[in-house]
Amino acid sequence: MALKSSHLLGLRDTPAEDITAILDSAVAFKEILNRPIPKVPTLRHVTVVNAFFENSTRTRISFELAEKRLSADVVNFSASASSVNKGETLIDTIRNLEAMKIDLVVMRHPLPGAHTLLTKYCDSKVINAGDGAHEHPTQALLDLMTLREVYGDFNKLRVTLVGDIAHSRVALSNIYGLTTMGAQVAVCGPPTLIPRDIEDLGVKVYYDINEAIAKSDVLNVLRIQMERQDSGLFPSVREYHQTFGVTSERLAASHKPITILHPGPINRGLELDADVADGPHSLILKQVTNGVAVRMAILYLIAGGEK
Ligand code: NCD
Repeated sequence: MALKSSHLLGLRDTPAEDITAILDSAVAFKEILNRPIPKVPTLRHVTVVNAFFENSTRTRISFELAEKRLSADVVNFSASASSVNKGETLIDTIRNLEAMKIDLVVMRHPLPGAHTLLTKYCDSKVINAGDGAHEHPTQALLDLMTLREVYGDFNKLRVTLVGDIAHSRVALSNIYGLTTMGAQVAVCGPPTLIPRDIEDLGVKVYYDINEAIAKSDVLNVLRIQMERQDSGLFPSVREYHQTFGVTSERLAASHKPITILHPGPINRGLELDADVADGPHSLILKQVTNGVAVRMAILYLIAGGEK
């Protein structure tokens, strides 16, 4: 089974069949992860470079583990320790890596669209591990996997992304992926953190967190991206928490089941209270576990290999 696209740049143009193929094969790879020896020779012939031009904990380690579980050869490259600091361009950097014979680049880069550029100049397969505030397809796919485990499918599932929609690549990839799969998607946050015209993507907008909780099966709570914001988008961290924070009192007041996701890293006590993050509604650590399985599936389907 091959995907329609030879790269994974984003979910905007990824068809439902490809998303389903990735999620189905992630189920098979998750089973491998639970074996006493969680390793298969599938990508023994493949060399992967993880090129991270922006900070990352979960995504970088999750990709590296996924690659190692599939027996790929792995090289890690981080911008802070490379010749990027000497002024080398992105294309030159990757072409030099390619001259050492690699097959696949997993890249995180602050420039939206950097991955598309790369595919025009390089022969390697490219997987987007986050491009600025644009897309983060593997995060959205692991969110979808986690929801499919609980709800079976996405038909009419009401998922609301809460918080800093404007600066979140997780939000955009979730909106594309979830709407493609038939979910009812909404966003909730202060008007300054919600892009104008977002309804054109087929999502509803809530400005009241209590209404969002009442009308959703799932809240995917997003980190307030202090590093990507110009100042003044909300009055204070305290006020944000009072107005939009996801708290156990708010969840209890709605008297209905709800699932909480968060891509991490969490600002505890800001967008999400600690007792909710660690409580019975939360699937946050399941998301992290599923991240490895979903990335194994993506690597397998993009790079090719026998299981
Ligand atoms: C996200 C990211 O880097 O976009 N984190 C992640 O990949 N798990 C979300 C964030 O930084 O808030």
